[in-house]
Amino acid sequence: MKVLVVGGGGREHAIVDAISRSPRCPQIFCAPGNAGIAEQATCVAIKDTDVQGLLDFALTEGIDLTVVGPEAALSVGIVDAFRAAGLRIFGHTKSATRIESSKEFAKILMEKYDIPTAGYKSFTSYAEALAYVSLRPFPAVLKYDGLAAGKGVVIAQNLEEAAAALKDMLIGEAFGKGKVVIEDYLEGPEFSFMAFVDGYNVYPMPLAQDHKRAFDGDKGPNTGGMGAYTGLPFINDEDVAFAYEKILKRTAYAMVSEGCPLSGVLYGGLMKTPQGIKVIEFNARFGDPETEVVLPLLDSDACDIFASVACGNDPQPLVWSDDITMGVVMASKGYPGSYSKGFEIDCSEAGERIFHMGTAIKDGKLVTNGGRVLMTVARAATVAEAKEKAYAAVHAIKCDNLFYRSDIAHWALDK
Ligand code: AMP
Ligand code: GLY
Repeated sequence: MKVLVVGGGGREHAIVDAISRSPRCPQIFCAPGNAGIAEQATCVAIKDTDVQGLLDFALTEGIDLTVVGPEAALSVGIVDAFRAAGLRIFGHTKSATRIESSKEFAKILMEKYDIPTAGYKSFTSYAEALAYVSLRPFPAVLKYDGLAAGKGVVIAQNLEEAAAALKDMLIGEAFGKGKVVIEDYLEGPEFSFMAFVDGYNVYPMPLAQDHKRAFDGDKGPNTGGMGAYTGLPFINDEDVAFAYEKILKRTAYAMVSEGCPLSGVLYGGLMKTPQGIKVIEFNARFGDPETEVVLPLLDSDACDIFASVACGNDPQPLVWSDDITMGVVMASKGYPGSYSKGFEIDCSEAGERIFHMGTAIKDGKLVTNGGRVLMTVARAATVAEAKEKAYAAVHAIKCDNLFYRSDIAHWALDK
C-alpha cells in the first residue's frame, strides 16, 4: 500500500508516525515534509496547495490513499480534484471545509442547528461594525471571515484597539475581502475535541488542550500553539458526553443536511463556560500541536481509519491508550513575528519522541526552518510525570535560536 501525506509540519509528522505503525507496512510519501518526516517517509518537493502537482504525483506513483493535513490544501479543493480523478483521499471537500474557512458559515450553521456557541453579528461596513462595538461591553471579540493563518481573531480591550482591528479587516489591505463576525466574549478553560467524521458517523479522539499564547502565563501574542497535553482534569465524563452529542454529532448531522457531509477530521475548539460548553471555533482538520499528543495514543491501525473514512466505510473500533501525553513546542526567537532560519540543532540527547515542525537539512546538518521548529512529546501515567519528561527532553536540545513556554499544562497542574 502506498500512502501520501500532504503537508510538512509537526501535525504531518505525527500523521506519518501513526501510519508507519500500521500492520499493513505502507510505503509512505510526504509532500513537502520536513527533515524529521524524511526519517520515516520519502519526502517529495511539492507544495501542499499545488493540487495539480500532487494529483500528477499520486497518479504517476500509483498512490492508494492520500491523507491531507493543512486547511489550505482542503480549501483549494484537493479532495474534490482527487475524487474526480478516482483517487482515494482522506479530508473534506472544499464545500465542507467552509466550516473552518468561513466564520460566518460556521456561525449560521450553529444557529440553525442549535449548536451552543457565542452570540454574534456579522458586518461588511466599517462604520456599522464600529458603531455596534461602541455600544457593547469590552472585551470585544472580532473575527475575520476567512482563513487568516491564526491571525484573524482580535480580542479588543477598548474602542481604540477595536477600531484598528476593524480597519485592518474591513478596509485595509492586510486580509483581503472584508467581512467580520463580532461575538460575545466568553470565559472559561478551552479544550480541543477532535473526531474522525464520515457523514453521520463520529469517532471521537482523546481531548487535548493547546496553549495559544507565546509566553508563560498565557501572555503575549497568539501563535499556532506552543504546547499541548491530554488527560484534562477539568473536563468530566458528562462534559465529554455533552460535547459529543450536542456539538460534534449535531454538527455532522447539520453538514449532511446542508448537502456538504464531512469526511475527515472535525476539530471543535470548545470552552467550558459557566453557562455550559460552547464552540469557540471549528477546524476542518487535525489540530497542530494537538495531533502530536493525540495520535501517539492511537493503538488501532491508522491506515484503516483513514482509508475507511475516505471510502465511507465503518473503520474497526478505535482503541486508544489511557496514557497521558504532553508536548512542548520549541519555536524560533521572534515567532510569531519575524524570525531567522538556518540555526543548527542538536537533538541527539533528547531521549523522548521529537516531532519536527519546521526543520530542514542544510550541508548535512539539521537546521531551523520555520516559526515553530520542534515539539518534544513525552508519555507517562500522569500529567506531572509526562511534563517532567517532556521538559527534560527540551533541556537536552541544543540550538541557539529557540524559545519555549515553561508552563505547559498549568491548567491541569496549578489548580
Ligand atoms: P479562534 O481562532 O476562533 O479559536 O480564536 C482564537 C482565540 O481567541 C481562542 O482560542 C480564544 O482564546 C479566543 N476567543 C475566540 N472567540 C472567543 C470568544 N467568543 N470569547 C472569548 N475568547 C475568544
Ligand atoms: N491548535 C490550534 C489549531 O490547530 O488550529
